[in-house]
Amino acid sequence: MRKQTDLDHGPGPTIRPLALNVVAGGAGFIGSHLCRALLEKGESVLCLDNLQTSRASNLRALEGHPRFRFMRHDISQPLPAELTRMAPRITRVWNLACAASPPLYQQNPEHTMMTNVVGTNHLLHLAEAAKARFLLTSTSEVYGDPEIHPQAEDYRGHVSCTGPRACYDEGKRAAEALAFDYGRAGRTQVRVARIFNTYGPNMDPNDGRVVSNLICQALRGDELTIYGDGSQTRSFCYVSDMVAGLMALMEADIDGSDPVNLGNPDEMTVNELLGHVLALTGTAARVVHRPLPVDDPRRRRPDISRANEVLGWAPKVPLAEGLEATCAWFAAELAAAKPAAAGFAG
Ligand SMILES: NC(=O)c1ccc[n+]([C@@H]2O[C@H](COP(=O)([O-])OP(=O)(O)OC[C@H]3O[C@@H](n4cnc5c(N)ncnc54)[C@H](O)[C@@H]3O)[C@@H](O)[C@H]2O)c1
Repeated sequence: MRKQTDLDHGPGPTIRPLALNVVAGGAGFIGSHLCRALLEKGESVLCLDNLQTSRASNLRALEGHPRFRFMRHDISQPLPAELTRMAPRITRVWNLACAASPPLYQQNPEHTMMTNVVGTNHLLHLAEAAKARFLLTSTSEVYGDPEIHPQAEDYRGHVSCTGPRACYDEGKRAAEALAFDYGRAGRTQVRVARIFNTYGPNMDPNDGRVVSNLICQALRGDELTIYGDGSQTRSFCYVSDMVAGLMALMEADIDGSDPVNLGNPDEMTVNELLGHVLALTGTAARVVHRPLPVDDPRRRRPDISRANEVLGWAPKVPLAEGLEATCAWFAAELAAAKPAAAGFAG
């Protein structure tokens, strides 16, 4: 777990009474973009995060914003009394809190499961007390290694409950079940987004996800790692499209009794992604193959008909454009990290 940072600044500035969003996991990759988008919309944000997988720099741009406040907290633990006292002012509760890449969520599988189940329950309780709407960021991993392609929301999945990915996959499935139970019982209005692979600035260069891995390896001139033969497929959604989809889902006037897939249906092999990264970075680095991780899905493509129909949402950013922006961001990050590392060594 990361050390306390200057982001954890105690009572913080006063928050406007209207449209107060609690964003759990708001210091992470997608969460930091969501916090910014909500502030740009004129709303207030209370970001709740234990900084387990986030980079403090993700929130630097938001620090000092009069409608932004950070509270360091692990959602698997009872919520701070100060937060529960704020319930009458809370209008939306977003749950993005969970390590999302396999190496990170497998570091402490029990904690990953507790974050998803106990943490989601804490936030649902808060939403109920606040009479606020609740959104859970679930995942395409609820479909496991799918036998149906592309994956629509009514597909029940092909998930191992005994393997190393189960803490995340089954944790998210349990979180969905809890959310829908609250919704069915009329305790709170729920929205469940099933997110497919998302990429963009603010990703952790070391999180082990395929886009960040390949781009950072290429930029550093390191060997490029492909797991398996690279014929497995993925569909990559740029983060601004994802945030637009999440916000549309939260605000949509729907009954919320069904999950909604959010992702980009443009499917490609990992080898094709590699080709894009090689062309973009011009690296001459060698490609090395490593064994496929256990239970790694072979194919992944969202059927986004429901999101299209109920939200009028579809991704807009083409891969070439999104990869270029991501690559430029990683290049700046790696360049900024260099002098600090050199200074430390010296
Ligand atoms: N990025 C993707 O491709 C993707 C795909 C599917 C689902 N999702 C889901 O979207 C959400 C955000 O993912 P991301 O890519 O931004 O990941 P991320 O790791 O960058 O962000 C997750 C954030 O949650 C925080 N967190 C983790 N456990 C916590 C806990 N117990 N209490 C408080 N904070 C905690 C982390 O510190 C981090 O800031 C996650 O729930 C993830 O499962 C992401």
